[in-house]
Amino acid sequence: MKLSLLPLSVASLLTLASCATEKQTPTLKDHFADDFLIGAAINMNHVKGLDPGSDSIVRRHFNSIVAENCMKCEEIHPAEGTYFWDDADAFVDYGVRNNMAIIGHTLIWHSQLAPWFPVDSTGAYVSADVLKERMRDHITTVMTRYKGKIKGWDVVNEAIEGDGSYRKSPFYEILGEEFIPLAFQYAHEADPDAELYINDYGMNMPAKREAYVRLVNDMKSKGLRVDAIGMQSHMGMDYPDFKEFEESIEAFASTGCNVMITEWDMSALPTISRSANVSDSVVYNTLFNPYPDGLPADIADRWNSRMDSVTDIFLRHKDVITRVTAWGTHDGMSWKNDFPMKGRVEYPLLFDRDCNLKPFMQNRLDNASDRQI
Ligand code: XIL
Repeated sequence: MKLSLLPLSVASLLTLASCATEKQTPTLKDHFADDFLIGAAINMNHVKGLDPGSDSIVRRHFNSIVAENCMKCEEIHPAEGTYFWDDADAFVDYGVRNNMAIIGHTLIWHSQLAPWFPVDSTGAYVSADVLKERMRDHITTVMTRYKGKIKGWDVVNEAIEGDGSYRKSPFYEILGEEFIPLAFQYAHEADPDAELYINDYGMNMPAKREAYVRLVNDMKSKGLRVDAIGMQSHMGMDYPDFKEFEESIEAFASTGCNVMITEWDMSALPTISRSANVSDSVVYNTLFNPYPDGLPADIADRWNSRMDSVTDIFLRHKDVITRVTAWGTHDGMSWKNDFPMKGRVEYPLLFDRDCNLKPFMQNRLDNASDRQI
């Protein structure tokens, strides 16, 4: 029977099962032990045991995890006064059992926001006071539940546009710029021991970079704590500009914050959009899905070479970069297969569909005679 004719769950289990044969090589977490934490986003298939390939990759290679979806507002707080803990609890238990640095993602974000959150029963925006109270309740309740288990939180995600202006999210529309310092204040009050991060995509863009530097310096001058600036780092074959990217690392470090690479992946396909705004989707077009049966060698070589250069950048700045997290484990489970166009066959992660480490990184591990393995 052809794989494509099997029910999806059986087909995906067969695909994923082939991942279990990963060969025993030096590990990423040993390789980068003196540099930064090395993490991966994981989802509920993984946590529930339905993706053994991802499970074996993560337990072997990574020392940090972040929740791909289960801690987002629409998942964890679907209705006012109703929290859904099962998935997030299972995610955190997995991290605790495996002794990982667990990252919470994310508290205040316009995407995957529960629809009820910024509106009243008529659908109109709530008042500033009501929104503040909802933010405080949400942040306090979620952070308190996982106190002592979560190392740090993406407190605010994707608040600024590429041109440096504030994104016109419900939070901004109702509270103005103040929603960001308020979120950090509530988060610090909820768990003073958790690290607090501000996170966004497209962080290489100069106007966005400058806006974040200003914002973080401003929050610090008001006595608020921001521990790291997160650069999502969803990349492609023609972006970001590496010089700009490196200048952003330096600029962010100049605020006194650490820098974290929080959602690293690199599309190997033709670029449709440089944005990682999850609502920016386009309709299917085969032109943008050119390699459904495997990546041609020349494209794979270029992809590996770009990823190698990016790794060099991370290592050059290991004094300020404290974590590098990939947005997934192997290509088969990446969100990029569905974004920004559903149904693409993508190749953006560190491990291929058979759970083999990609050549650029395998070479680094194999050639690292001076590193502890
Ligand atoms: C993505 C998830 O990977 C998808 O499964 C989901 O459908 C949409 O969100 N920036 C972020 C992440 O901060 O939360 C997004 O994750 C990717 C872009």
